[in-house]
Amino acid sequence: MITLFVLLSIGMNLADNEEIIWRIQFCFRILEQYYWLINAYTLDFFSCDHWSKLPWSWQKFLPSVGPVELSRWIESGEQSNEENATFESPSEEITSAAQQHKDLLNIFRKHVKSKKQHEIFRIGKVCTLCASATSCHNVLDIGSGVGHLARFLHYGLNFTVACLEAESEFNSSAERFDMDLKIAVENMGKTPRRPPLHVVCRLTSNTDIETLHKMTYPVFDGGFGIIGLHTCGDLVPYMLRYFAASEKIRYLVSAGCCYMKMTSDCLGTNNPGYPVSDFVGNFKGVPLEYESREVACHALEMYLKRLNDNEVEKLKIHCYRAALECILVSIDPSLKRSGLRSVKNAHCMPFNSYAMEAVKKMDINLDKKELQSVETLKRLSRWQEVYKFYTIRLMLAPVIETVILLDRLLFLKERGFRATILPLFDPVLSARNLTIVAMKL
Ligand SMILES: C[S@@+](CC[C@H](N)C(=O)[O-])C[C@H]1O[C@@H](n2cnc3c(N)ncnc32)[C@H](O)[C@@H]1O
Repeated sequence: MITLFVLLSIGMNLADNEEIIWRIQFCFRILEQYYWLINAYTLDFFSCDHWSKLPWSWQKFLPSVGPVELSRWIESGEQSNEENATFESPSEEITSAAQQHKDLLNIFRKHVKSKKQHEIFRIGKVCTLCASATSCHNVLDIGSGVGHLARFLHYGLNFTVACLEAESEFNSSAERFDMDLKIAVENMGKTPRRPPLHVVCRLTSNTDIETLHKMTYPVFDGGFGIIGLHTCGDLVPYMLRYFAASEKIRYLVSAGCCYMKMTSDCLGTNNPGYPVSDFVGNFKGVPLEYESREVACHALEMYLKRLNDNEVEKLKIHCYRAALECILVSIDPSLKRSGLRSVKNAHCMPFNSYAMEAVKKMDINLDKKELQSVETLKRLSRWQEVYKFYTIRLMLAPVIETVILLDRLLFLKERGFRATILPLFDPVLSARNLTIVAMKL
């Protein structure tokens, strides 16, 4: 299966640039063949007649394939968890009763969801390994949000931490949570350390390495590691460039997300977020446009569960949305791909109730006759084709993510750094689990 690529790219020899390049080229060959599919939105299923564009043999065969079989196709290419053998399984880590991480102290669990507890615990382990290998216990957390990871590293693992965050409200919450923690430590009869440094700053492609050094100078006298947990859009590419540019940055630990928010060379941007490596930059592969980078961010493992747990009825929502798209565009073509209200449990509702709910905040009058027209009912009867189309498209998502991650890895390796990709988190719990780790030894 196509998704074997993630497995191959993890199991492969990431030390070998030639092999990475070969994988990237191979992924591009697949993406070239299915270019229309990776750029096709499911909501255009009826308006663009997507089904008719599938190979004829697929159109014949897919109706006989059930959800469990579809999920098996995807599972056959699922990531190996071998590299995660050093960690307990999430069900062992997170206690089922309280949904709390059993190895985190209470003070690091307050305000923190179990998914985030899982992430900060595991990324903390990797940071500790990098810190002892490079003898550097200073870290800069980029896109630190409300500072859950930073607090754990600073107070739980004895790092000295500085944080950069664009949103001042997140920073204020982070400082408030730091204060809560300080009080909790004092109540335990201990003297707390000074909290992490929090800097409000929106990094841009113009923020140079000297600016970064100046911002962290008050707390780091020597070198530091640069880390980012689910840093969206261009933040990972910025981190890679900082790591390459500064002697002071001793290691990098980076899990990305929201690939569609990256700038890309499709728009002719200088120093785009994608591609970053010289090889992919010069390679004439298919462009990865917004639509394809967006599908690469889906939670495939979570979706598999839905197919397996026989929750397939819930996927009627894709057909509802696509049928409503035809009606909206017939009212006014400028309503194409409008952002609609998300409707909970839409699959339990008749289509007309869903449609009314979905457009509630828009200035539109839906014609009740149109909602129940023969044409609309015919579309609704095809809901299984719609979710199968959605699933087939999703199967290509790991190929796109593989290209994006290998491009980032190659950027580091082209510059002579030791770097690898680790499947650090449990993908059901935390879908963007592939983490780039690099060190200067
Ligand atoms: C998905 S959140 C992750 C937050 C945190 N690392 C965590 O795991 O909880 C990404 C964070 O990056 C911040 N961010 C996005 N773009 C940024 C930029 N250009 N400069 C600094 N921070 C940015 C966002 O405000 C947000 O808090």
